[in-house]
Amino acid sequence: MPVTIGFIGAGNIGRVHLKSARQLGLNLAGAADINPAAGEAAVKDFGVNKAYDDYRPLLADKDIAGIVVATPNKFHAEHAVAALEAGKHVFLEKPMAMSVAESDAIIAAMKKSGRLVQMGMVNRFRGAVQAIKGALDAGRCGKIYSGQAYMYRRRGIPGFGGWFTTKSQSGGGALIDVGVHLLDLSLYLMGFPKPVAVSGMTYNVWKNLAEYRYLSMWGKPQGEGKKDVDDYALATIRFEGGATLQLNVSWALNIEFTQPDSGLRLMGEQGGVELKGLEEPWLYAEEFGQISDTRLYYASNDYFLDEMQHVADCIENRREPMPSAQQGRTVMQLLGAIYQSSEQQREIRLDS
Ligand SMILES: NC(=O)c1ccc[n+]([C@@H]2O[C@H](COP(=O)([O-])OP(=O)(O)OC[C@H]3O[C@@H](n4cnc5c(N)ncnc54)[C@H](O)[C@@H]3O)[C@@H](O)[C@H]2O)c1
Repeated sequence: MPVTIGFIGAGNIGRVHLKSARQLGLNLAGAADINPAAGEAAVKDFGVNKAYDDYRPLLADKDIAGIVVATPNKFHAEHAVAALEAGKHVFLEKPMAMSVAESDAIIAAMKKSGRLVQMGMVNRFRGAVQAIKGALDAGRCGKIYSGQAYMYRRRGIPGFGGWFTTKSQSGGGALIDVGVHLLDLSLYLMGFPKPVAVSGMTYNVWKNLAEYRYLSMWGKPQGEGKKDVDDYALATIRFEGGATLQLNVSWALNIEFTQPDSGLRLMGEQGGVELKGLEEPWLYAEEFGQISDTRLYYASNDYFLDEMQHVADCIENRREPMPSAQQGRTVMQLLGAIYQSSEQQREIRLDS
């Protein structure tokens, strides 16, 4: 019997997950969205059984085992906690929530319910990331002591004026939207060292849609809305044992137009790895007494599909979800500390 799931939020990323779930043959019991057209489109386009304009009756469906939460960040905690309290497993889009306190509420509900929570960090499922993980797990780099993760967009502010750029609904801008992926990925590959201190800075440069020249946009621009969140953020994170991570992330920046320009480097004592454009994995080491650069080739995969397959596997076979809620909380803690460091213009200690 295929796993039966429901959706809260059938917008842009909800539809990506609906497509994967349908492709995997999961039983799509319902989609709840406050925009009735989005719920109806889920029924029409993906064969979902029923559309709801409120998530509560969806959660009352006893046949549903798992819920995909793909609503704006502001609602993540409310929807995840409600689903867990209704006895459902949860696949929760990133970022986990708007704060550590909200993340803790989700973890408390998860423990009380005995259900699973998987964070939506799709980049972990990239073939390139798994290739690099293989090299690291095989000990090819030795102790990792420093990392760099970056994603630069020249003009990539999503839904300008809508919920993405409104702090009360998103919790932040480029950092919480894109930085969340890079932080999770870096920590995952570094083996989740314990962060002890954070120093960061965020900038909000483009504030009005009228003054923002762009070529394309994720989501629809809303001229009447506002933008009170960061479009550029940088940070240095120190970990227990002395390792460090530098993060640079932008939605918009006046730089060369190589969009998007992203990557990750981890430097170890015996070797280093690099993920160019998050798609091209390299291992830098020494072989045969010489300095060597090795390009790792991997079978390309549909990482959204593999992510959804993992959701279904975890629910069906009670496997430990990757990433876990606890890891989502650690990333949330770092995001909060970077914003705090920027506001207070000082390093934030996490170990006191
Ligand atoms: N993993 C990724 O690569 C990725 C990519 C994009 C977005 N996301 C995350 O997914 C989430 C949704 O992003 P999106 O781009 O799909 O946004 P979106 O605005 O396109 O979709 C959100 C949907 O939620 C609905 N909604 C809003 N409030 C609701 C409520 N209270 N109850 C039910 N439905 C409600 C909206 O009507 C809309 O259809 C965000 O948290 C975002 O950070 C993740």
